[in-house]
Amino acid sequence: MPFQPVAFFADHYNWVKALHIIAVISWMAGMLYLPRLFVYHADADKGSELSETLKIMERKLLRVIINPAMGATWLFGIFLVLGNPAVLTQGWFHVKLTAVLLLSGVHGFLAKTRKVFLKDENKRPAKFYRILNEAPTVLMILIVIMVVVKPWQ
Ligand code: HEM
Repeated sequence: MPFQPVAFFADHYNWVKALHIIAVISWMAGMLYLPRLFVYHADADKGSELSETLKIMERKLLRVIINPAMGATWLFGIFLVLGNPAVLTQGWFHVKLTAVLLLSGVHGFLAKTRKVFLKDENKRPAKFYRILNEAPTVLMILIVIMVVVKPWQ
């Protein structure tokens, strides 16, 4: 055990886990939707009404849902570790955390891409964003299998 569990988080473990899963669902909803908006935006004429509407949708989705949900997922995830530090020694958690760091990297790339569209500077085709849309899906599947099945201790 790397360190002693923090009593408050150990005593309220299932409440914290419930809040963690609620934040995860919100984060994933946004991460699976934003690349889809980029698919339509890549085919929209620069300066068109559709392009300007998509800019508003992308900003609100990122600022109101995706960013706060990622923050809450990390916050409650860390609280779970503080309540159960033994997970830090387990193989499934190492694979999970690696996948979560990659997912956070994809988040960062989507946030950067939103600014590229905002400045009408996107040069990538819709196909690129269709493929990009698979990344959060694959990582989510890997993460959930790791944390529920725990194939390696
Ligand atoms: C952001 C950093 C994250 C940290 C530090 C973290 C940490 C944890 C910890 C310690 C648990 C409790 C495991 C247990 O007691 O069995 C947990 C549960 C869970 N996590 Fe995360 N997690 C993070 C992100 C995610 C993400 C991105 C997803 C999904 C895409 C996810 C899905 C889940 C699920 C579904 C559970 C409940 C598993 C169960 O009760 O069987 N977590 N997380």
